Amino acid sequence: MNPVIIDCDPGHDDALALLLAAGDPRLRLLGVTTVAGNQTLEKTTRNALRILALAGVSGVPVAAGCDRPLVGELSVAEDIHGTSGLDGPDLDIPVAGVTGEHAVELMRRLISESGEPVTLIATGPLTNVALFLRTHEGLKSRVNRIVFMGGSTERGNTTPYGEFNIVTDPEAADIVLRSGLPITMIGLNVTHQALATDEIIAEFAGLGTRLGAVCAELMTFFASTYRRVFGFAHPPVHDPIAVAAVIDPSIITTVAVPVSVELTGTFTRGATVVDLHHRSGRTPNADVAISLNVDAFWQLLLTAVRRLPIG
Ligand code: BDR
Ligand code: CA
Repeated sequence: MNPVIIDCDPGHDDALALLLAAGDPRLRLLGVTTVAGNQTLEKTTRNALRILALAGVSGVPVAAGCDRPLVGELSVAEDIHGTSGLDGPDLDIPVAGVTGEHAVELMRRLISESGEPVTLIATGPLTNVALFLRTHEGLKSRVNRIVFMGGSTERGNTTPYGEFNIVTDPEAADIVLRSGLPITMIGLNVTHQALATDEIIAEFAGLGTRLGAVCAELMTFFASTYRRVFGFAHPPVHDPIAVAAVIDPSIITTVAVPVSVELTGTFTRGATVVDLHHRSGRTPNADVAISLNVDAFWQLLLTAVRRLPIG
């Protein structure tokens, strides 16, 4: 089984990413770390604990990490994820606690203790991951790959060219992309293909479990904010695609290309500059997803949610 750590900021789509990681037998979820992003660190941490409890996942350590980006102030995505960060379903459920370690320390411990190299899956701003890489350089060889949801080969969703996770902490993304580690980038150019249509939402509701109902309610809330903010008919379910790409890499196709983060642009700070045509002459530093098997992705997610016990 593929050992993974998920670093996340739940967040509706992060919640589905956690369920996929917990419910697919090909992954061993070593731990979950949280970061400020979609909401404050306190809220994203509580949301991660609520989702794990709801899915009946016990024994997976959870640690809270950075409460703000490396540089500048935090700006949360309340317009998309609501005041709790996970508005929509009733998630009033008793939760387990956090370990008490900082997320970076939990990453260090789990990666040091793992018999096999660990894949880091990041579905929020890359603050914790960057801090881990800077603090524990010596453990880089024990990281198999970093797979992150963020950026785009095209335009953005937070600024005209910037995607939320990268715009929230551009310096962290820059550190990760220049780390020299194998990296897979799952950007908006593919996540915007995985739309939670009415049929998809009905499939989750039709599972007949509380977890299936919660997934349907999460996507229904997500749909309402995406409709209001972006005018989209159906919301893109970004984050679980990063998990799906680790479970079954054939679900995406990638190209190895140079990717840089714009740190100083007047209008483009936080944009990922993806050199698809190798015009810069720079060495490729990331495998960038350019297509997605949408049906296979939804089947993976539905199957995982069907398999999970209910807390
Ligand atoms: C990303 O931003 C967040 O709002 C989502 O959880 C996802 O990780 C999409 O741009
Ligand atoms: Ca996220």
